[in-house]
Amino acid sequence: MSTPMWHQYETPEDVAEAACQRIQQAAKKAISERGCFKLVLAGGSTPQLTYEKLTQCNCNWRHWQIYYGDERCLPVDHPERNSHMANYSLLQQVAIPEENHFPIPAELGLVQGAAAYSQTIRHNFPFDLVLLGMGEDGHTASLFPGHSIENDALVIAVSNAPKPPPERVSLTPTALNQSRQLLFLITGSNKSTAVSQWRSGENLPISLIQCQGVSEVLIDRTAAS
Ligand code: 6PG
Repeated sequence: MSTPMWHQYETPEDVAEAACQRIQQAAKKAISERGCFKLVLAGGSTPQLTYEKLTQCNCNWRHWQIYYGDERCLPVDHPERNSHMANYSLLQQVAIPEENHFPIPAELGLVQGAAAYSQTIRHNFPFDLVLLGMGEDGHTASLFPGHSIENDALVIAVSNAPKPPPERVSLTPTALNQSRQLLFLITGSNKSTAVSQWRSGENLPISLIQCQGVSEVLIDRTAAS
């Protein structure tokens, strides 16, 4: 298990550019070594800039497989779905085959969605690259402070999430840690308290993420201050 390496950038744009470069490099390596690139997308708003930048890159898209770290229990085309943001900022702009897109079926509800997605990912480890954000309270994916996680579960049903909507489906640390590489993308002054708590060793949900491979935190100046 590796502790993350921290890289600070001036602006969210610089974070997105650095993330885009790393994702491209990881994809090239994975495809040359194993013929496919298994990428887990982060939700929330931070990664949108990175996804938009990826659309300008010349990647071997047909070998990309897209998974998600979490999803909100909303209808498939709801604008607040993480898959909705990924679709319009990246997936509808590049030639990743439809059959290589594995959205979390959170529209089935939190319990059914979690059970179904556990079957989807259980034979696909290790991921090649996991992208994650962080909330102001140190949550990541839909792993929130004070919420219990069944020990060896891969995907959990989340209710009473403090960040709306309350019902979600989330990969667990057990699943997220099974990756060759991991990138945390963190920007904005509202994250600075949780960042310093994390760095000083406080027990936050994000602290549970210690991937088997290389992990890095790409952070902008305001989140690091
Ligand atoms: C979600 C995300 C969540 C997000 C953080 C940061 O469904 O909301 O998975 O974990 O990554 O809350 O969100 P922002 O990038 O919007 O600050």
